[in-house]
Amino acid sequence: MNFEELYQMAIRTSHNLVEDVRFSRELHMVQALSCADNICRYMEHYTNIFTSLNLVQNKYPYLYSHPVNVAFLSYEIGKWIRLTPTELYDLVCSAFLHDIGKAKIRDSLLNKKEKLNGKEVEIMRTHSIIGYRLLEHMEELNPQILLGILHHHERIDGSGYPLGLKGDRISLYGRIIAVADIFDAVTATKSYQTKSSPFKAVEEIADSSFHILDPYIGQMFVNKSINFFYKCEVKLSNEQVGEIIYINQEEKTKPIIRCENEYHNLSKERNLEIVDVL
Ligand SMILES: [Fe+2]
Repeated sequence: MNFEELYQMAIRTSHNLVEDVRFSRELHMVQALSCADNICRYMEHYTNIFTSLNLVQNKYPYLYSHPVNVAFLSYEIGKWIRLTPTELYDLVCSAFLHDIGKAKIRDSLLNKKEKLNGKEVEIMRTHSIIGYRLLEHMEELNPQILLGILHHHERIDGSGYPLGLKGDRISLYGRIIAVADIFDAVTATKSYQTKSSPFKAVEEIADSSFHILDPYIGQMFVNKSINFFYKCEVKLSNEQVGEIIYINQEEKTKPIIRCENEYHNLSKERNLEIVDVL
């Protein structure tokens, strides 16, 4: 199975799960777990998930594609922090199911273009606990998988939800999924937001690494993810297109770009930024 086939299969599975929840049918859990297993088998030998995800980003509705993208990204983070194969599988299951509670929230709210009011924010924030409740009785899912789902919006400084947990009281899978979740959310086009480049998403993770995200996981993500974009073609905010020819180790999100015979060092030219990876 190549990446496209695996990705499409995962999108179908994600779609089926949402429909199951919406129509109160028995969940396609066997299909979901086998999809998680396929992602793990594929990722074991795969080296550049970032450029692959960049190619399929925004081809499918966010409600279905986001859990799939977060599952791939979580695996990658789990691999960097040397989780065992069993832990990686549990992490991918948790990531794949982390937003299942959103299926219980009406589309008009999920897709609302305007800023949500206080009551609407409250409803949106129920999705992690709804997801946990939907799945807590399933014997196929162990407590760590369930805690990843429940904790993915908890924040290290206690500012998250639903429990306001701090630091290590947030489960490891919850802390990993939180980083993958932000990366995918920032790079996706949604009804209320146009997509930003992966570089912008990594900057956002870097800015959040010392207060709301696990600093070790956040910094690991910043240090490793950008390397995968070496040699990629990018579009700059001045409309020029060029190739990333050097990653500045001190400031990873500000590489050197070659545009024909012109070079732009983004760590020096602060008004110029990458707006898209092509
Ligand atoms: Fe979420």
